[in-house]
Amino acid sequence: MNIKVVYFTKTGHSKKIAAAIGEALSVEPMNIDDNPSIFGVDLLFIVSGIYNGVSAPEVIQFGEKLKPSMAQRVAIVTSSSFGKDTQQKLSLTMKGNYIEVLGECIVRGSFAVISMGHPNKKDFNTAIDFAIRTIELVEGPSESEPNENEDGSQ
Ligand SMILES: Cc1cc2nc3c(=O)[nH]c(=O)nc-3n(C[C@H](O)[C@H](O)[C@H](O)COP(=O)(O)O)c2cc1C
Repeated sequence: MNIKVVYFTKTGHSKKIAAAIGEALSVEPMNIDDNPSIFGVDLLFIVSGIYNGVSAPEVIQFGEKLKPSMAQRVAIVTSSSFGKDTQQKLSLTMKGNYIEVLGECIVRGSFAVISMGHPNKKDFNTAIDFAIRTIELVEGPSESEPNENEDGSQ
């Protein structure tokens, strides 16, 4: 499966979260600001923050240009100080372009003293777990996992 990770960042959190996901998936994250070339992607992770309650305009524009031939499916990873806002407009924009949006994971970022210290290791792991679960959703559980029954027998 062709998996890519893109991010948009103002203060560096999304770059770090994208790097954590990228390391776990062995994928090099690309900066939306660099106008990355996206084509034939089966699953695209978009990592970005919330600014004044909404997505950055750059991220919305990226979503507007996305077509199924570029990315068939998308999953969103959102960081914000309060951990409440979602990137609904981004999601609706891509759905309107016939792209399957598989879900959104919300992790803590920080702004000044609000949620200071985030994103931390736990936040990175939350994003990585989401990425792995999303991949499993598309292609089924990984072969390396033992197929155990509830009583522990194989
Ligand atoms: C200008 C600005 C506005 C922000 N507005 C909000 C907001 O409305 N709600 C919120 O929960 N976090 C807000 N934040 C916090 C960011 O969403 C959070 O720090 C996020 O991790 C930023 O991602 P980035 O470092 O990749 O840019 C804001 C941050 C900045 C810099």
